[in-house]
Amino acid sequence: MTGGFDTPRELGSTTTDVLAEATVRLAASGVPSPEYDAAELLAHVTGTSRPALRLAGEPTAEQLRAFWALVVRRAGREPLQHLTGTAAFRHEELAVGPGVFVPRPETELLAGWAVDRARDLVREGRVPVVADLCTGSGAIALSVVHEVPEAQVHAVELDEGAFGWASRNLAGSGVDLRQGDIATALSDLDGGVDVVVSNPPYIPMGAYASVTPEARDHDPAAALWAGEDGLTAIRVVEQVAARLLRPGGRVGCEHADAQGEVAPAVFAAAGRWAEVRDHPDLAGRPRYLTARLAR
Ligand SMILES: C[S@@+](CC[C@H](N)C(=O)[O-])C[C@H]1O[C@@H](n2cnc3c(N)ncnc32)[C@H](O)[C@@H]1O
Repeated sequence: MTGGFDTPRELGSTTTDVLAEATVRLAASGVPSPEYDAAELLAHVTGTSRPALRLAGEPTAEQLRAFWALVVRRAGREPLQHLTGTAAFRHEELAVGPGVFVPRPETELLAGWAVDRARDLVREGRVPVVADLCTGSGAIALSVVHEVPEAQVHAVELDEGAFGWASRNLAGSGVDLRQGDIATALSDLDGGVDVVVSNPPYIPMGAYASVTPEARDHDPAAALWAGEDGLTAIRVVEQVAARLLRPGGRVGCEHADAQGEVAPAVFAAAGRWAEVRDHPDLAGRPRYLTARLAR
């Protein structure tokens, strides 16, 4: 068994006792937010929400068995979202699991930037054309199409497994989802896209040891690694955005917090972008760049 403990039949069974014990056990395994995760897992097995947990009745024996089984797996550093099967992202609940990158809160601002740019175009009386490159679960594309229903949204994903999750999340949304390599994808839209948004892989191979077990062991490799300097995919996004965008169109691209200068420099060095800027995430760390196609 992973997690290093047996199902604790001898422990208290009130919500308060169970949460306290699970929090201690998750913390001992190095889980970064043990109290939150314990409450999320208990809410999941009891079919309620985390804020409503204390108002719900005490868990049944069956629910407790299911809960402790999940706590053991979380202590083994399986992502919380794989255990509950969903990830919250802006106003969305995405289905996630093995084979797809779990969307992160730090990407929500980049998605919000794309939403805002699309809304600007709606205010001008235009139908915004938006392309989400490397869509993974479809989180960014789904946010844009739900928050700006006037937008025409396209999404591209290469990996077979991730494409399956995106298909599920984007079904019925109106997003045009395509499987393929962003390097050559959406060529029928060349020069006609208003907003390109992308959260590509950007971790340097050398950073392996610093990546959390949740990401390293459970996010797909294709979602994480991007060559020696972590910029391989960002360089492709720069080229593809230049191909897809109409003159004056805008690109937003996420990067690692250590790439707050080198990622914008990829765009600045190409000589075809104006207003190359970097932006922080909710924690104040450099997180995404934006630029406008000059020609
Ligand atoms: C970091 S994940 C981001 C997923 C999603 N956009 C998000 O923010 O949660 C990067 C995604 O890019 C996909 N990917 C990597 N290289 C690609 C390529 N050349 N063409 C299309 N998709 C690619 C990976 O399979 C993965 O799903």
